[in-house]
Amino acid sequence: MSRINIAIDGPAGAGKSTVAKSISRIMGIVYLDTGAMYRTVALKALNSGLDTKDAASLTNIAENIDIKIEYKSNEQRIFLDGTDVSEMIRTPEVSIGASNVAVIPAVRIKLVELQRKIAQEMDVVMDGRDIGTFVLPNAKYKFFLIASLDERARRRYDELCAKNTEHPSFEEVRNDIAYRDKNDSSRAFAPLSKAKDAIEIDTTSLSPQEVIELILSKINK
Ligand code: CDP
Repeated sequence: MSRINIAIDGPAGAGKSTVAKSISRIMGIVYLDTGAMYRTVALKALNSGLDTKDAASLTNIAENIDIKIEYKSNEQRIFLDGTDVSEMIRTPEVSIGASNVAVIPAVRIKLVELQRKIAQEMDVVMDGRDIGTFVLPNAKYKFFLIASLDERARRRYDELCAKNTEHPSFEEVRNDIAYRDKNDSSRAFAPLSKAKDAIEIDTTSLSPQEVIELILSKINK
């Protein structure tokens, strides 16, 4: 029996996770947030006082880290060496760290192995940067979401404001996203890029519901 694999890629703030979560609920399949895995590696490095760009240290972390994914009431929880870090990984510092560790091939190889294993075992909608190009090149459905930098920064800024009374300024959020866009697109190994056979959707002026409906209409065609 062949698995349903749906790949949703794109830069930060393009709306991937909101849409992927909804699609997973509607289709009754699992949502795998691969960014959470890179964030978890970054958290471990930061907690150990390491530079997230230090390839030797990060290779060592990748070889020894214990990352587990569990689903509670259909929601992904991620565990670092036995501790649930699902909330801890959502800080701006960890976002930048994740983009840095994601450049290091040993980190990617380790995480991609885990991602492919999950996609073999379950029907999934997976979001990230390299799902359609590298992790699941044979996925039946591939989408690439984009939006203007200002719109993506506004969405992320609103999210951070809603969650924390202390939050970075809009300018800082915009700069962090611009840094990650450049870092993620320019790395040598499995960069952020649109798969040739992916459907591109510009979400700048679309509501999440409109994007979800558009994706479902392509899947059900
Ligand atoms: O949620 P947001 O779009 O801000 O980021 P994320 O999906 O949690 O990913 C955090 C970082 O992990 C990204 O900036 C990428 O550098 C990296 N990442 C990656 O390289 N490949 C993936 N499949 C997923 C994330």
